[in-house]
This record gives sequence, C-alpha cells and structure tokens, in this order.
Amino acid sequence: MPVRVFLTGAGPGDPELLTLKAWRVISAADVILHDSLVDPRIIALARKDAHCIDVGKRCGLHSATQSDINKLLVEYAQAGNIVVRLKGGDPMIFGRATEELQALQAHNIPYEVIPGITAATAAAASLGISLTQRKIARSVHFLTGHGAEDGLPAHDWVALTRAGGTLVIYMGRETVAGLAAHFIEAGMPPDMPAVAIENASLANEHVTHGTIGSLPRDVHDRGGKGPTLILVGEALENRKALKATIREAVLF
Ligand SMILES: C[S@@+](CC[C@H](N)C(=O)[O-])C[C@H]1O[C@@H](n2cnc3c(N)ncnc32)[C@H](O)[C@@H]1O
Repeated sequence: MPVRVFLTGAGPGDPELLTLKAWRVISAADVILHDSLVDPRIIALARKDAHCIDVGKRCGLHSATQSDINKLLVEYAQAGNIVVRLKGGDPMIFGRATEELQALQAHNIPYEVIPGITAATAAAASLGISLTQRKIARSVHFLTGHGAEDGLPAHDWVALTRAGGTLVIYMGRETVAGLAAHFIEAGMPPDMPAVAIENASLANEHVTHGTIGSLPRDVHDRGGKGPTLILVGEALENRKALKATIREAVLF
C-alpha cells in the first residue's frame, strides 16, 4: 500500500521555512488536517479542491479532541485519500505525534514523518544566538512549561539548573512566574539571562529580553497572545552584540 498519511512539520510560521518535501505533500494532499497555529499562507499552498480542516489543537491543550483527530486520520486514509497531518514546528517536538502514529499503526496505514523547523531553532536564528555556544552552553534542553491541569510540570529543577545548558521552554508563557521561582529556588542566579520570543520568524515577532528574575513581570506586562518561547541560559548574554551584525547582513 502506498504511503497515505504524511505527519508533516509546518515550521515556526514563515512559509519560506517549510521544507521542500512539506511543500510537495501539501500541494498534493486530498485532505489536510492542520493545527490552529499553522500560518494561513501555508494552508493556501494546498490544492483548491483539497479538504482543509482546522482540528483546532493549540499548545497541547484540548486533549479530549485527540481521539477525534486520530479517528479522522484513519478514516480519511482508509477512504483512499492522501492525508497531510500538518503541525506547527516539528511534529516530533511537543506535537502528540506518538498517539497519532500509534493509531495509524493499529490500522496498518503506512505513514511518513516529515520534519519541520522547530520554534527553538527559529528563535535561535532570530536572536542570533547559538544554543550550544562553545564553552558556555554544552547542552540544550527542550522543556514544556505546562503541566497537568494547567499547572507546572514536575521537572527536576535542580538538575536542570546544575546542567548549565540552554533551557528552551515551550508553552511556558502562562507559567513563567512559577518556572522562574522554581529555577531560582534551585540555585539559578536571578540575573541569569532570559528571553521571551513571541511569533518567532513572523513579521510580528516580538522579543522581551531580561533575566530569569525580571522576565515574569515583563512577559505579564506585555500581555502577548502569540505563541511564545522562553529561553534561559548564559548563551543568551550575547544577544545584543550579535543583533547589529545580523541587521547589517540582511540583503532583502
Ligand atoms: C504544542 S507546542 C508545539 C511545538 C512545535 N511542534 C515546534 O516544534 O515548534 C506549541 C508551543 O511552541 C512554541 N511555539 C510554536 N511556534 C512558535 C513561534 N513561532 N514563536 C515562538 N514560540 C513558538 C510556543 O511555546 C507554543 O506554545
């Protein structure tokens, strides 16, 4: 049986950050089941007669609809359609991919996963920051900032703080105050550089930079509504110095 379902990363927002493979399957799809965060300009690449359905999952919430999405994937594929399941960023990073792949496997439906640019690397590009800066950040940690029942996740705060790498926190805007309090209590200096980046890669991108001590108030005062990533660590220190270089290098 040919591959029927493509679990596809739509990247962080800017349509130019789609992979060629993602573009190809989006253009060929009979049915596209997409998350709310996927940019409309990317949906517009679909065939005019393609059936595009916003399955409305945002930020990993609404888990009640996950079984409906699994069911739609299976039903559309079994009816002979080419189905693209389009997710923001990379489908394998905080994307509930496992549940969807298991549903397809359970029905012997062939699938392919097409990776996308995750928000962390889009943010690093925008900020001009290497997440793994030599001698400063020897590891990168992708964390969720969102735990069960809207609370904080049960991270090992001390281990994360001691690791001394760059912390990249997805879905952490609403819980940033609690996250910061845990890290500081675990021994992180309150003046550790920290950045919140909203709508990374898009024209309305907004960066709030400060420290782990100052960020909760600044993020709250801004009241942003777009998807926001929080980055913490020594590597963020270089941001201002590098930004000037990036501006000069812009060609278009
Ligand atoms: C459910 S997670 C999905 C992550 C996605 N699979 C990825 O690889 O980027 C949604 C979270 O990703 C982050 N995010 C996604 N797109 C973003 C963007 N363009 N700018 C900043 N953060 C973004 C936000 O933290 C948002 O709450």
